[in-house]
Amino acid sequence: MRVVVTGGAGYIGSHAVVALLDAGHEVAVVDDLSAGHAAAVDPRATLRIHDVRDRDALYASVSEAEAVLHFAALSDVAESVRDPERYLRHNLESTRAVLDVVRRAGVGRLVFSSSAAVYGAGATRPICEDDLCAPINPYGESKLACEALIAGACSDEPGLSAVALRYFNVAGASACGALGEDHRPETHLVPLLLRAAQSTTRRAEVFGDDYPTPDGSCVRDYLHVSDLVAAHQRALSAMRPGFEVYNVGSGRGWSVFEVMASVKRVTGVELEVTIGPRRPGDPPYLVTDSRRIGQDLGWEPAVRHLDPIVASAWRWLRDHPSGFDDPGAGFAREEVEA
Ligand code: UFG
Repeated sequence: MRVVVTGGAGYIGSHAVVALLDAGHEVAVVDDLSAGHAAAVDPRATLRIHDVRDRDALYASVSEAEAVLHFAALSDVAESVRDPERYLRHNLESTRAVLDVVRRAGVGRLVFSSSAAVYGAGATRPICEDDLCAPINPYGESKLACEALIAGACSDEPGLSAVALRYFNVAGASACGALGEDHRPETHLVPLLLRAAQSTTRRAEVFGDDYPTPDGSCVRDYLHVSDLVAAHQRALSAMRPGFEVYNVGSGRGWSVFEVMASVKRVTGVELEVTIGPRRPGDPPYLVTDSRRIGQDLGWEPAVRHLDPIVASAWRWLRDHPSGFDDPGAGFAREEVEA
């Protein structure tokens, strides 16, 4: 299949590109490199560097495609709380552009990167897709609004099928060692704790220990990036007509303190932990009930424990302490198409 991957130079997108290529698909990446890294794009894929909202440029990439995977988005929860307008506008405009172009080009399949952030703060047990969506941060609001746009496009356009995958927390690195997580600035728990373990101070902070959870810290559902990528492949091949949403997570929750314990088991380093205030926009508990994706798409995670996820992220960080700035990280790419 000819597949266009928006945001294919980013953390999850770049892993998806490799998996698609390995499965025999032809891949074009569209990325403005505002958060992604050119070195993260497998050279077997074409890389086109432009904003997804540039409809003419996007049409040129998408016109021959049979499927689009739309990863490109602003995706930092805390930043979205600080700058809600920008998040809502950017993520909605990008998705509108993708939908316009997909419809104009007659592309039949769309996989959208949504988020568990659509659910908000009400959950105390594993979340099903039909549970209430009441996001408590603008990032989650933007993803929910994008889902609604896509659902509308699918009902207007019988030839378009789409799946929104609501990601829970993703971590880890590729088995080949070329790809891993390199956000600038880094805000995610697993890479931050591992960097702390590498540092001389070993300092890490828990953002709030007074949540209504067993140990007072937030609980999240961690998934290895390769499992998330496999869910995209299932969605692409087993997509049914219309629009569907699926949660993608491991189904097991880990508190911030439990993630710290995993980091200690993997690295052997005891962190110097301080308790800070809650981070605005953080729901206390986000864990998936994965039954729907299992039943409909036959997907289940291969990695079910946190330690191997943390160990894979640790290998990437030890081998590439400066991320994609390290000469051995990513791929050598000779040319890009502007
Ligand atoms: N946390 C700390 N200390 C840190 C960093 C994070 O205590 O130094 C806490 C956060 O407050 C949160 C948890 O660790 O409770 C996880 O935080 P992350 O920033 O790693 O991830 P989020 O849960 O905020 O967000 C991630 C993705 C979102 C997605 C969400 C869905 O970044 O895109 O998971 O669960 F929406």
